[in-house]
Amino acid sequence: MIAEISPAETQRRIDELGAWFQNINLNGVQTAPRHFLGDYPAVKFQRFAHALPPDLTGKTVLDIGCNAGFYSIEMKRRGAERVLGVDFDERYLAQARFAAETLGMQIEFRQLSVYDVGKLREKFDLVIFMGVLYHLRHPLLALDLIREHVARDLMLFQSMQRGSTDVMPVEQDYDFWQTQIFDRPEFPRMYFIEHRYTGDPTNWWIPNRACVEAMLRSSGFDIIAHPEEEVFLCRIKTSDAETDVGRATRQAKQSLGT
Ligand SMILES: C[S@@+](CC[C@H](N)C(=O)[O-])C[C@H]1O[C@@H](n2cnc3c(N)ncnc32)[C@H](O)[C@@H]1O
Repeated sequence: MIAEISPAETQRRIDELGAWFQNINLNGVQTAPRHFLGDYPAVKFQRFAHALPPDLTGKTVLDIGCNAGFYSIEMKRRGAERVLGVDFDERYLAQARFAAETLGMQIEFRQLSVYDVGKLREKFDLVIFMGVLYHLRHPLLALDLIREHVARDLMLFQSMQRGSTDVMPVEQDYDFWQTQIFDRPEFPRMYFIEHRYTGDPTNWWIPNRACVEAMLRSSGFDIIAHPEEEVFLCRIKTSDAETDVGRATRQAKQSLGT
């Protein structure tokens, strides 16, 4: 922990650490006061904070795509024993370390891609996977890896969504000649962004709501709460036999004769 620093020095360090995506209140000094979404992510968090356990004493938390550590800090405030924030962008991790130190919080931040979570060799009581899915070229792979390697119980998930917000029941199978189903806007869909969306070349896939829900289920998560339009609280399905990942793995093993 660093000694308490003056507001002027805090501001100087904030400026030195580059452009901030998350607005965090560092003892009265804001890191991104002109965010295009307002006081973000605080305004979002206050819409779903009630859905999370208020007391995380003794729990471990992994914040994937932690950015400047907003959610890591909030989970530490709830008493989590251990919080690990990972992000593949070292610039954001430097911001996160400064924010946690300034607030006197013991949080570990490590450079890691979501595709490498298996390297952690550890499972966490709560995995936070907020605002990352649509930045990935391989979103389902990321969910599968999280489920397999790091999720022990709960996952807090958020994705930007576009298209219909309606959800229709998904059938177990569809006939080859059943084609109209694909014209229904509430059928699970992902929109592929070949170039940019909102000027950001890291936006790749934007799902509609039905698709988010289907992907979460397919990767082995039960949705236990939907407290905000884009946010889902999930719990892992307990038996691999129930999941599509389990099914895919069994099929692969059968075809390899192993
Ligand atoms: C839109 S921000 C969301 C930040 C934060 N989770 C939130 O909800 O406010 C996306 C974050 O994901 C990180 N990110 C993108 N791709 C990643 C990957 N493959 N592995 C880890 N982090 C990634 C980015 O560096 C960025 O910090």
